[in-house]
Amino acid sequence: MSTHADAPRTRAQHRDPSPAPLLPPLRLGGLEVPVPVVLAPMAGVTDAAFRILCRRHGAGLYVNQMVTARALVEGHRRSLEMAAFAPGEWPRSIQLYGTEPASIAEAVRRLLDDGVEHIDLNFGCPMKKVTRQGGGAALPWKRRLYRAIVAAAVRAAGEVPVTVKFRLGIDRDHLTHLDAGRIAADEGAAAVTLHARTAEQLYAGRADWDRIGELKATLDIPVLGNGDIWEAADAVAMVRRTGADGVVVGRGCLGRPWLFADLAAAFAGRPLPPRPALGAVVDEMLEHARLLVTFRGPERGIKDFRKHTGWYLKGFPVGSETRRRLNQVGSMTELETILGGLDPTVPFPVDGMRLVRGHHGPPRPVSLPEGWLTDRDDEVTLAAEALVAAGGG
Ligand SMILES: Cc1cc2nc3c(=O)[nH]c(=O)nc-3n(C[C@H](O)[C@H](O)[C@H](O)COP(=O)(O)O)c2cc1C
Repeated sequence: MSTHADAPRTRAQHRDPSPAPLLPPLRLGGLEVPVPVVLAPMAGVTDAAFRILCRRHGAGLYVNQMVTARALVEGHRRSLEMAAFAPGEWPRSIQLYGTEPASIAEAVRRLLDDGVEHIDLNFGCPMKKVTRQGGGAALPWKRRLYRAIVAAAVRAAGEVPVTVKFRLGIDRDHLTHLDAGRIAADEGAAAVTLHARTAEQLYAGRADWDRIGELKATLDIPVLGNGDIWEAADAVAMVRRTGADGVVVGRGCLGRPWLFADLAAAFAGRPLPPRPALGAVVDEMLEHARLLVTFRGPERGIKDFRKHTGWYLKGFPVGSETRRRLNQVGSMTELETILGGLDPTVPFPVDGMRLVRGHHGPPRPVSLPEGWLTDRDDEVTLAAEALVAAGGG
C-alpha cells in the first residue's frame, strides 16, 4: 500500500543522499533493528492487523500483545490465538507475563517452537487485580523472584533475545527501576524498557524522562525509553535528553500508524512527511478493518475495529452522530458507507497528534499483598491468581 510517507521521503533522499541517523541500529542479541523504534505491546491493540499497518510505514520492532505464561502453557484458546503471527511476519516479537519461573521457562520454550525471535517480559502492569497479588509492577520489589523469572526466561530462550519492560516502581517512595535494570542485565537480558511512571501514576501526569537517563547511565545493555511520545519530535527529544538507545511508542500511534513513518524520517534525519487529510485517514481505517476481518473473520474483525474508530478520528470535525454509528458498526459495508460520507479534503487537525488517546485518568494508590513492602529480599511464591493479567504496563 502506498502511504503519505512515500513521496516526501523520496524527495528528501534526492536532496541529501546520506543525512546522519540519530542513532545506530538497535542490537538485541543477534537481532538487529535498523531503526531503534519499538511499537509498545498493547493489549487488544497490537494484534497482527495493527502490526502490519505500522510496519508498512516504518522500520522498527513491532511487539505482539501480551500473553500470560500459564495460559499459554495450559493451551488456552484465546492466548494461542493472541500468540499467532501473520504469515511472513519478521521478526516475530511477543510479550510474556508470568509470576513463576517454571511456567515462564516452559512458555518461552513453546514460543521458540513457534518460531518467535524476540520475547519481552512485562513487569509494568499497574492493574489492581494484578498488583494486589504481587504481580505486574509490584513484582520487581521482590528482587529474588524477579531475578529468578528473568533468569528462567533468558536461559530457556538461548540465542533468542529477551528484553524486560518495567515502570519506575510502585510509587515515588518505592522505586525499583535501577535494581530491575541491573538484575535484568546481570541475568543476560538483551535490553530493558522503562515506562517512566510509577504504578501509582497509572498513565497520569508526565513520564519522568530524566529517570530514563539515570537508568541508561548505570547499564551496559541498551535502554529503551517509553512514555509520552506523541509525535516524532518527542522521540528525538527523549533520545537527546536521556541518551536512550531507542524509543518505545504506545498511545501515540493509536489511530496514527503513520507515526512510524514520521519516526523513521526523524531518526534518519529526513524531513517529516505531511500529515494525512481525512481522505487518507479513511483509507487507512478501511485497510485496518480489512486486515482485522482477514485475521478475525467478518464479525469479530469489525467488532474489534470499533475501538479504533475514535482514535483515528480524534480531533476531526466529523460530528457525534458519525462517531456513535462507528462505535456500533456491524459490517465492512456499513463501515464503507459511513466513512464514504466524510469529506476527504478536511485537513489533519492542528495539534491532532497530541490529543491523548488510550489509557488516561488520575493516579491511584497501589493495592499490594499484606506486608509486601517490608522485605525486598524474602522468598515469595505468588498465588496463581497473580497470573490473571489483562494487560497493561
Ligand atoms: C490500551 C493499552 C494496552 C496496554 N497493554 C500493555 C501490555 O499488555 N503490556 C505492557 O507492557 N504495556 C501495556 N501498555 C502500556 C504501554 O506499552 C506503554 O508502556 C504505555 O502506554 C506508556 O507509553 P505511551 O505514553 O507511549 O503510551 C498498554 C497501554 C495501553 C494504552
